[in-house]
Amino acid sequence: MKLLVRPVRRLTGRISVPGDKSISHRAALLGATATGVTEVVGFLEGQDCLGTLRAVAALGAEVTRKGPGHYRIQGVGADGFSEPGDVVDCGNSGTTARLLLGILAGQPFTTVLTGDESLRRRPMSRVVEPLIRMGARVIGRRGGGCLPLAIAGARPLQPIRHVSPVASAQVKSAVLLAGLWASGPVSVTEPALSRDHTERMLRAFGGALDVDGTTVTVAPGRPLAGQLCRVPGDMSSAAFFLVAGLLAGEGSVRIEDVGVNPTRTGVLDVLGAMGATLDVEPGSADGEPMAHITARPSGLRGTQVEGPLVPRAIDELPILAVAAACAEGATVVRDAAELRLKESDRIRALATEFGKMGVAVEERPDGFRIEGRRTAGPVFRGGDRVSSWGDHRLAMALVVAGLQADGPTVVEDVDCIATSNPDFVAACVRLGGDGCVEVTA
Ligand code: S3P
Repeated sequence: MKLLVRPVRRLTGRISVPGDKSISHRAALLGATATGVTEVVGFLEGQDCLGTLRAVAALGAEVTRKGPGHYRIQGVGADGFSEPGDVVDCGNSGTTARLLLGILAGQPFTTVLTGDESLRRRPMSRVVEPLIRMGARVIGRRGGGCLPLAIAGARPLQPIRHVSPVASAQVKSAVLLAGLWASGPVSVTEPALSRDHTERMLRAFGGALDVDGTTVTVAPGRPLAGQLCRVPGDMSSAAFFLVAGLLAGEGSVRIEDVGVNPTRTGVLDVLGAMGATLDVEPGSADGEPMAHITARPSGLRGTQVEGPLVPRAIDELPILAVAAACAEGATVVRDAAELRLKESDRIRALATEFGKMGVAVEERPDGFRIEGRRTAGPVFRGGDRVSSWGDHRLAMALVVAGLQADGPTVVEDVDCIATSNPDFVAACVRLGGDGCVEVTA
């Protein structure tokens, strides 16, 4: 599928974005592991999270769709998972594969995991290595470092203290989840704080957890009980519309009920430092905090993104690159080598595709530098075809760039957008009017 994007001057209206991807995955996995019923409201019905629901169903949990985004999961309890009869396909989703590996490490059977071409390239060793130290056996491509791989769990698992070289919520979550089947406490220390949804949700389900700075320890043996999970709107989806609203010539873009967990709001801090006019109005706060956020057209200036801010904004760096291109002065992103290991090599992909739109991105091993141009006219050049590299976040960033360009742009290979926001095109049309983004042959 391709999208034809036409520049618009005015973006205005209120939207909500689909449920948070990270929280939806965890609701499915914890709901399956708990005893009793978990009801999930606002579940993200994108390809990645639907894949996690299929995976827990293959392991024996009963999953019922009760309405849009509303699921009932009948958990099996910590001892109730059963060996899947076939290979579990994690599609494009690193979160599905890595968190599932944590659970599977504690199961007394063998599971084979695979994924699409992109996921089969992504490193699994960062979770496989600690899980092997805990007692799981793993065989797979590149010494168990890449999918497809087979994992045979052990019980009980050995307690470990894992010091992760990367600030990764997927690594942290996989090891903590495995810790539920360990014979003693399991801790993970990360170099900077990554998103903490697993910690919050494990506690809500009745798990025993201790957090000390960037070290989290889970004590095994506490049964988890099914819960009602209300999933807030995904900040990572909201970010595309916030930047679109800031860069527009007129209007205002209000996004309702967005999750504002502080481990996820790095994008708001970066945009604030760039001089963005953002109005954050706190909403309900049972469980994960939420807010309504309004973006108004703003003149932006360049900034630096580095250190502990990086894991808090890691998925938003592609759309922040669009903001950077339209800002006065240089924006430099450092300490973000992880970008090369996402659904695509996002540093290389941004440099290549922005280049086609007339914006130079200086690639660096651990980030990029963009010399912004705040001109009276458009910064991005339309008229060319650009490609998403099969990466949903790159696809959406290119669409937002296209809305700002000096002519129409075709963004190719955009089916991937459905992994995190199946409503993306409809929301663009709602804000920018008929025809600003349309599916084309
Ligand atoms: C996620 C963690 C992050 C993030 C990804 C979702 C999660 O990945 O980029 O989109 O749900 O735990 P890493 O753990 O690899 O940093």
